[in-house]
Amino acid sequence: MIILDQENKLITLHTKNTTYQMKVWDYNVLLHSYYGPRISGGDLSYLLRCKDRGFSPNPNEAGSDRTFSLDTFPQEYSTCGVGDFRLPSIALELPNGSRTADLRYVDSEVRRGKYALEGLPSFHGTEEEWDTLSVTLTDAAAQVEVELLYGVLEKYDLITRAVRIINRGNGMVRLCRCASLCLDFVRSDLDMITFNGAHVMERCPSRTHLHPGIQSVDSTRGASSHQHNPFVILCDRNTDEDHGLCYGAMLLYSGNFQAAAELDQFENSRLVMGISPRQFSWTLEPGKCFTAPEAALICSPAGFGQMSRQFHRSIRHNLIHDPWKGRRKPVLINHWEATEMYFTADKLVDIAKEAPHLGIELFVMDDGWFGARNSDNAGLGDWTVNEEKLPGGLEALVPRIKKLGMEFGIWIEPEMVNEDSDLYRAHPDWALSVPGRKPSRGREQLVLDFSRRDVRDHVYEQIKAVLSSADISYLKWDMNRSLTEVWSAALPADRQGEVYHRYVLGVYEFAERLRRDFPDMLIEGCCGGGGRFDGGMLYYTPQIWCSDNSDAVDRLRIQYGTSFCYPVSTMGAHVSAVPNGTTGRITPMETRGVVAMHGTFGYEMDLSKCTRSEKEIARRQTAFFKEHYDLIQDGDYYRLSDPFQNGPYTAWEHVSHDKKEALVSLVTGSFRGAPPFLTLRVKGLSPELNYQINGEGSWPGDVLMQVGCPLPILQGDYQSLQFYLKAE
Ligand code: GLA
Repeated sequence: MIILDQENKLITLHTKNTTYQMKVWDYNVLLHSYYGPRISGGDLSYLLRCKDRGFSPNPNEAGSDRTFSLDTFPQEYSTCGVGDFRLPSIALELPNGSRTADLRYVDSEVRRGKYALEGLPSFHGTEEEWDTLSVTLTDAAAQVEVELLYGVLEKYDLITRAVRIINRGNGMVRLCRCASLCLDFVRSDLDMITFNGAHVMERCPSRTHLHPGIQSVDSTRGASSHQHNPFVILCDRNTDEDHGLCYGAMLLYSGNFQAAAELDQFENSRLVMGISPRQFSWTLEPGKCFTAPEAALICSPAGFGQMSRQFHRSIRHNLIHDPWKGRRKPVLINHWEATEMYFTADKLVDIAKEAPHLGIELFVMDDGWFGARNSDNAGLGDWTVNEEKLPGGLEALVPRIKKLGMEFGIWIEPEMVNEDSDLYRAHPDWALSVPGRKPSRGREQLVLDFSRRDVRDHVYEQIKAVLSSADISYLKWDMNRSLTEVWSAALPADRQGEVYHRYVLGVYEFAERLRRDFPDMLIEGCCGGGGRFDGGMLYYTPQIWCSDNSDAVDRLRIQYGTSFCYPVSTMGAHVSAVPNGTTGRITPMETRGVVAMHGTFGYEMDLSKCTRSEKEIARRQTAFFKEHYDLIQDGDYYRLSDPFQNGPYTAWEHVSHDKKEALVSLVTGSFRGAPPFLTLRVKGLSPELNYQINGEGSWPGDVLMQVGCPLPILQGDYQSLQFYLKAE
């Protein structure tokens, strides 16, 4: 619900459990007065207090009122160079070289339904589900209009934000910064949690107290990155899984981003999130509009668990598109870890032919099937089937796989090119590179200039022909290096600051085309694993390969960190062979299955080499996963322990919406002598119901939650358990 109180110049957004409020203050400055647990109503602008503070300037209109300063108020969308010295949300460079931005409120409007953003991913849904608020601000001197957009999805406590900047003047305006979100707090005692890592170890949470000055995470790699995720949390110092106030902020963007928090001199805090201002500028011609990507906020008054569950519900129901919203996704087998790019058609069939007997439904042919792709220094860019490996092409291979009773999927990496490729030999200028410099290689490949329509068209037509040549129901879209030497031959010198963002818009446009032309195809995102695991890509690709690290023990941490924002149904997770290719670790096959069920579930091994007992385990795993598919993929998710604490086990739980079913999964650490007797307290059950555990006993829900169920002593390292709880 959005309430415009014209008389008191108040704008209030209510979700089921939270309230957000802003106030049009003197001189039409738009201030932020509140965001937190839902309140019945009222004007919270008593929180906005004035005081004459040294070195905090006063706008000209304030005359001799020295208590009115932009430097001291919480702002709704912070300005630049006109008296607020904290993190700006916007910076404009005008033809005269000035770099200030001063925004004043003009009007606002509420409408049913959700706004859409052209060319950018965004949450969506029905008219009944959403309300939209549009607030217009203006910088009169610059003749620039700013539209702040807010979407309210009441039932999931989701508030989305986006920003449009329009040049209403006659001259050029250069945008040097344009955040999607600014969130001010009149308090300092907050923690910031960011999700950081590296290739093969993504999204590990890191929590620190806000301290004076700016603390930030960002990406300048052209993708949202393995190193930092465009999702952060601000929270009370004592917030934990089940208690305390927290604010999650995600950016639906797959390129360079920045999430920065500042604790200022008067102990106020500010979070600003959006496209990274490093390397960014955008020239706005008269009448033109720039749209900043969408950000989404959820405030939970009851700990991280509730915040995550609300993000999961909103992503599953209002970000993922039909037909994959709610549709069952197949259990797959991918041969990458088994063969890499060294395979023949017969070898693929050899791996595939075991799969249907084990309940596997989709075979994915990974990297190596195209061009002269016999190693990673050749072939990218040439999207035609390598007939030496696959005689007769897909027309011959796909029917062989389908005859086994399986769907067929294929891998692509459309944004990349090897110098040893026909594409590069014909169009060397299509790769990003700076004139006069030799481009850096990453995995011996270069990056195509996806900011250019002609480049995308060429690649798209090739890939479309492949996808149309056979019955292909799944696509894995990979991206295996960071962007460097970012310069486009298609843009003039003064617009090179646009290339990174235009590249991302190009990726989205390419994805949109795929969705339009192949609406039933399941697309799995990938970027060397989880280097582009963000809300932007999830809009187009309903699942993303979570990490190239498929080791079950490391995956406990990676998937735990990922779960703070993203639902289990989006996390690509497979059972792979041991010793694990990344860590060398040996874990039991049962445990690898339990961990891969914390995701989309599939296999990544040479099934033709599996022992009879391994196949029997795989058969049981797929049957179990399919039996509990809805509970795992659509149920409410609870983290029961933190794998970073090195406790005796890591556990998590899925609970059905009616609380009549739950699945508890647990993996132990390394075994030690004299083990303690452990009890596991579960969450989210109904205290009034009695539950059977794995078909036995009768346990009251409150006992399972308050006292817990006894755990057996599991000898050996990295053992696993699953309890299926069913209400009687
Ligand atoms: C990336 C992906 C892998 C695999 C290889 C193929 O690393 O994350 O899953 O597809 O590329 O080159």
